[in-house]
Amino acid sequence: MQLKSIQDVDLKGKRVVVRFDFNVPLTKTEPRTITDASRIDEAIPTIRLLLEKGASKIVMISHLGRPDGQPNPKYSLEPVAEYLASKLGTDVILSESAVDNGLRNLLQLPETKLVLLENIRFLPGEEKNDMELAEKLSQYGDIYVNDAFGAAHRKHASTYGINAFFKGRAYPGLLMKKEIESLSSLLEKPAKPFVAIVGGAKVSDKIKTIEKLLVMVDTLLIGGAMAYPFLKARGNSVGNSLCSDDDVSLAKQLLAADKGGKIQLPKDHIVAEGLEGKPETCHTIAIPEGKMGLDIGPMTIQSYGDHIKTAKTIFWNGPMGLFESKAFARGTMSIAHEIAGTKAFSVVGGGDSVAAVQQSGEASKFSHVSTGGGASLEYIEKGELPGVQALRFGV
Ligand code: 3PG
Ligand code: MG
Repeated sequence: MQLKSIQDVDLKGKRVVVRFDFNVPLTKTEPRTITDASRIDEAIPTIRLLLEKGASKIVMISHLGRPDGQPNPKYSLEPVAEYLASKLGTDVILSESAVDNGLRNLLQLPETKLVLLENIRFLPGEEKNDMELAEKLSQYGDIYVNDAFGAAHRKHASTYGINAFFKGRAYPGLLMKKEIESLSSLLEKPAKPFVAIVGGAKVSDKIKTIEKLLVMVDTLLIGGAMAYPFLKARGNSVGNSLCSDDDVSLAKQLLAADKGGKIQLPKDHIVAEGLEGKPETCHTIAIPEGKMGLDIGPMTIQSYGDHIKTAKTIFWNGPMGLFESKAFARGTMSIAHEIAGTKAFSVVGGGDSVAAVQQSGEASKFSHVSTGGGASLEYIEKGELPGVQALRFGV
């Protein structure tokens, strides 16, 4: 069933409850400032549309971090409220709690238009999908909009249960629609060759997505720390590289399942004695004792680049090495430049790879840069997410 469109809805004088994913990275020390506001920036078009269409109130819900059901000033949405106010040029009121008593009165005042509820995960009911909490939240509005793609894989009160109280009045926001449309074009008849690039730290985090990708793609390029368990599973020594036994056995399973020989592994590496060590090129697949692989090497960059050049569809998740450190960033940056140079339909998802794409300055050349990490992987794996399914069919 097609997702409905908020553009077609009459919002004049209506109060709208909107779930966003404002879970943005903050500096670790006070004053806590936002280090990457992409998720908020991507939500702005939905807020503007609701305002243009004459909504009388916009009550925004989001989580930030994992405060485990308890108020914790470290995870306050205050920096988000400030950022939104400065971007929109209007007041944004931050409530003390998502369900405080003063909130009802506040919502009666005609002058308060934009209200941001304090972190919804300060309440234990959110992650438990508590229906009492969902009902309370539903009382703030006549219409529900879910624009929190990044949290759509969570079955929580404000992403899932709340739909029960908005039968026929629940809609995806503009970002949610854009995300689902882009990701579903990877799943439905992608132009071939389809090349996926998967990196990052652990095989166990992504095994289900890799299994699914193996069915969908023509070539699967593996990089980052994820590559070492695969190399070891094929009998290569990996020195001191990150490589758990569990990941080696998962990698063995995936290699055995790869009947078509779609999986490509690094042929050479950039290694060092440790994270702070001096980078050296290791020209062989095998990594010597005492050395740790921290990036893909020049031959691998060349060969992965050749695969990317032929692709008509590309999906990328996870960096090729420790790109936060300049000495080990070349592999990841080369992949970003290579994808940017193609005419392929290209999608990148996941916090680290998205940050790498931003760092490369090539983001605008990607067809779609997803705001979801876990959500985009789960969508690829399952073809649906609880938060999206609830919008389509209710709960
Ligand atoms: C994310 O950043 O992945 C989303 O905001 C979801 O957060 P969570 O992984 O803590 O549920
Ligand atoms: Mg997450």
